[in-house]
Amino acid sequence: MCGIVGYIGNKNAQDFLISGLKRLEYRGYDSAGIVTLAENGDATYLRAQGKITNLEEKLLKNKRSDMIGIGHTRWATHGEPSERNAHPHQINDLFLVHNGIIENYKELKETLNDYDFKSETDTEVLAALIDSFYKNGDYPLSNAVVQALKLVKGTYGIAVVSRKNPSEIVVARFGSPLVIGIGNNETLIASDASALVGHTKRAIYLNDGEVARVTNDSVEIKTLNAEPVSAKVEEIETNLAAIQKGGYEHFLLKEIMEQPQSLMETLRGRVNVEEGTVRLGGPGLSEDELRRIKHLVIVGCGTAYHAGLLASYYIEKFTPEITIETVIASEYRYKEAYIPENSVALIVSQSGETADTLACLREIKKQGIKTIGIVNAIGSTIAREVDGGTYVHVGPEISVASTKAFTSQVIAMVMFGLTIAQAKGVKKAILKPYVEEINKLPSEIEKVLNSVSGGIKKIADTYKEYEHAIYLGRDTSYPIAMEGALKLKEISYIDANAYAFGELKHGPLALIDDRFFEMAFLPKGVLYDKAISNVQEVLARNGHIVAITNNQEFDLQVENIIKIDTSLLIFAPLLMNLVSQLLAYYITTAKGYNVDQPRNLAKSVTVE
Ligand code: F6R
Repeated sequence: MCGIVGYIGNKNAQDFLISGLKRLEYRGYDSAGIVTLAENGDATYLRAQGKITNLEEKLLKNKRSDMIGIGHTRWATHGEPSERNAHPHQINDLFLVHNGIIENYKELKETLNDYDFKSETDTEVLAALIDSFYKNGDYPLSNAVVQALKLVKGTYGIAVVSRKNPSEIVVARFGSPLVIGIGNNETLIASDASALVGHTKRAIYLNDGEVARVTNDSVEIKTLNAEPVSAKVEEIETNLAAIQKGGYEHFLLKEIMEQPQSLMETLRGRVNVEEGTVRLGGPGLSEDELRRIKHLVIVGCGTAYHAGLLASYYIEKFTPEITIETVIASEYRYKEAYIPENSVALIVSQSGETADTLACLREIKKQGIKTIGIVNAIGSTIAREVDGGTYVHVGPEISVASTKAFTSQVIAMVMFGLTIAQAKGVKKAILKPYVEEINKLPSEIEKVLNSVSGGIKKIADTYKEYEHAIYLGRDTSYPIAMEGALKLKEISYIDANAYAFGELKHGPLALIDDRFFEMAFLPKGVLYDKAISNVQEVLARNGHIVAITNNQEFDLQVENIIKIDTSLLIFAPLLMNLVSQLLAYYITTAKGYNVDQPRNLAKSVTVE
């Protein structure tokens, strides 16, 4: 969603602001803006609707060598995408950029009668509120920010500068991330550490309820109650290669193709094939605590939810006496759900910032339930608030559609399930096949990616003009069907829905006609024959079936077949998911759409 950048130092601020905003483009946005201040306080204030290139055009006529400034990419919440609503918002001498939502902005606005508001945004109200305490620069900016934020209900990550004192930036956070990069005689601000990569490796992640006054060589942090905070400087692990396309045309393709390596990172040091065991340090649960687990709640949104659902199918197969409930965070946060004793909650999130998932985490913690994060973004809010966790370590996922994170989330959760099973004394003979297949998975992924890509590209051409798709699976391939349908619809805008094969006769079979194509996931296993009967039912109604199977003898006369050549049985559905990812990618590129930034979507959904 929205992105924030800021710079104060001895270099050209405009350069960093624009390059930083471009790094944050992947998060999704509809307008952008920057302001820089000269030493005498003169402001160069530029905003534009649409892409950052529109802002750059304005910049060509307004090049400055100012060394302080803030910038923003906006994803509209209050008010249409337009230049008028774009950030920074200016009130008198102040400029403010803001991520998040000020929930009580209407009430606050009623108290701010002296101001003439020019936008429809909640952010402009916050700027006026800060200004009402700043009183033309008579009070320190950081104090004015604190006073204003004490009255605010909602979420925010903000950066503020004033023409009256162009030697400081004030930043604050509550529910929206803010990172302060410590450079050499320069300090950089970003809502996402990827904007800082290549500039500094040292960063301070602000906590909720903290306000910082930043100069080129100092960072003073305090809480809203004016208590000083001693900052912890952490290392930014991401490198430049991880946030560049590396020869691929799109980030999405790069991220699909790098799954052998990204999964290796998830597994590193955690799998012992000889012993048939796994070991996860992060959750921090003792053997006794693991043994006592009776119930798992798995919480996530979208792809993370699908990963949780798939992991639950696996974990239930090898862990005795355990029940698992996989829930959609946006629903669960408002349910008055009772979580039984001896439960553990797995909080699944690539970004670690998803608002609904974070809200669930906080609700679950209130009930005294242990929370374990399955998170990718290091230092993210969820990663910091969970009781323990397992990073999936897949590196930055830039494309909006989640791919490599899904594969690793599933495996990280299965490994967590295996640690429970090990503690509960489940026989090695039952667990070892899982460990062996997990260990082989990276190389099998590589093999499948290399062998199926060409065929899928051709198939994509056949189906690119269809308006509807149905994804079908059962057991572990049902969540795979759900994830496949999500991937297709979110980037190609083809209406795609998933059903469990067994549900076909309960309604969806009525849909089958020439407007639809059907993706049938058919891994070998106990339910294979039943799934084949369901495929026959679709065939009998002239369905346009694409069968994805690891059964090399498959010989039904369907429209297209994608055979997966693998020795894996348990995790074959995860390999089939690669087919869905590539199909969505190739259909979307064939249609000429923007694969990395689908319309209306944002990478990390930090508002409800
Ligand atoms: C789909 C997709 C989304 C995310 C969801 C949760 O491709 O990316 O459905 O999975 O928004 O995001 P995280 O994992 O960051 O909590």
